Parts: sequence; structure tokens; C-alpha cells
Amino acid sequence: MTAVLQITDTHIVAQGKLVSKLLDTSNSLTQLVTRINSIRNQIGPIDAVLISGDVSDDGSAQSYERFKNLVAPLDLPIYVIPGNHDCRENMRRAFSEHMPVEGPLNWDLRVGEVVIIGLDTLVEGEGLGTLLPRSIGFLEQALARADGSPVLLALHHPPFTSAIEFMDKIGLTNSADISDIISGYGGNLRLVCGHVHSMMISDVAGRVAISAPSPCSAFAFDQRPDAPIGFMNHEDGCLLHRWNNGFQSIRIPPVAGSGPFAF
Ligand SMILES: [Fe+2]
Repeated sequence: MTAVLQITDTHIVAQGKLVSKLLDTSNSLTQLVTRINSIRNQIGPIDAVLISGDVSDDGSAQSYERFKNLVAPLDLPIYVIPGNHDCRENMRRAFSEHMPVEGPLNWDLRVGEVVIIGLDTLVEGEGLGTLLPRSIGFLEQALARADGSPVLLALHHPPFTSAIEFMDKIGLTNSADISDIISGYGGNLRLVCGHVHSMMISDVAGRVAISAPSPCSAFAFDQRPDAPIGFMNHEDGCLLHRWNNGFQSIRIPPVAGSGPFAF
């Protein structure tokens, strides 16, 4: 059994600042970390934590240091990929233990029975995401190295549309490249993403692809062309991906509620 906790879109900023003049994202992350630690005995051992982009809201070095302090109580290995709000070089410096020394922030590593592949879709200065030819090549090589092992493939921008128009306008530009490559992989593979601040489960090349909720805010599912553009101040937790001869993805909500009550 291998378990990977996925937290996404934490949007941390330097101390004393709010995101969009409204969200205390550090407080949201602290509450989620506290909640996870309070149920560790229920959810069982966690082998690693994957942060699937928008770790920071402003890309500042201070925000990455603050993020590391906020997740330190988990006392777990933390692996990150960039989102559209991140800064590639500040992120490379802050997480140098698992990052390449140059180029896109692509990496692959083995956690228990699972291979996690992290891909860099960041186009600095843009909201949309793209996999550079170099990153597409990296994915092919990483899957060859994985050699049939179960794979969690992480990228910030989902390779599927959300039907939320203002988010799809800043989606991944070359989803078809991913489909082509993963369709040939011989092992089990699950795609895990962020960006749309809501949990959506989709099909990509016959594989399950999931966007995880964000601990700090949410985008309403509103497929009307004139849907209002903006976020909801709704904290939505994170996901736990367990491998036990198959993947199982469990949402961990930010609050427990009362109970359990007798039937
Ligand atoms: Fe985000």
C-alpha cells in the first residue's frame, strides 16, 4: 500500500497579505494541515505529499519559505510542481532537493510502489499552460523508466476541459500530446491536476484524470457562457490517492462535521 496526499492551489503569499484582498490562504492551509494531522490514525500512513501547482500566489521567495513552514507539521516529504501563479526560478531554489538544476521543473521519483511524475506546464506571465517539447520528451522517458509501475502523473493544468469558460480559456494548450503518450503506457496510470479549484473526474486516453479541490477557494461549476468570472471563498480540502493493487482517490473535506451518530 502506498498513499500520496495531494494538496493543490494553496496560493500562499508573504505574511500580512491577503489574496485578492479577501483570502487568508495561509490560515486555510494551516487549518487543513491541522485537520489532516488530527485524522492521521484514521487515514493511515501517508508516504508523501504532492502539491500540484499554484503553491504561491505571487511567486515570491518569501511565499515559498512561508509555505514550507506551514506544511512542516505534516513531517512528510513534500514534492511540488509549478502552476501559472508560480515563479520557476524561486520554486527551483526553494525545493532544490527534488528539482532539476536547469530547464522546466519536470521530475520523476518512486514513492513506495508508485512512480510520481511531475510536469511543468508554466508559461510565465500567462494563465494558460503548455508542455514544451522538452517536457513532452521528459514524459516519454519517465514512463519508460517507470516500466509498468503504477504512475501518478501530475500537472497543474488539467488535460481536459472543465466547461467553466473563463478557466478553459486559460487551460492546457496541448492536451492531445499527453493523450498520445499515455495511451501507450502498459501500467496503471492516474492523472492528477489542480488549476480549476474544484474536484472533477474525467477520462483522458482511457485513464482517470482528476482535478483536486483547493483548500483556499473554489470556482463554481457554471457552464453558462455568461457565467460571472471570479472565485468563491469556499475551502474544499484535498485528496488522498491510495495504491492497493489499483488506485483509489479519496477527498478529505476541510471540516469533519459532528458525529458519528448511531444509526
Ligand atoms: Fe490556482
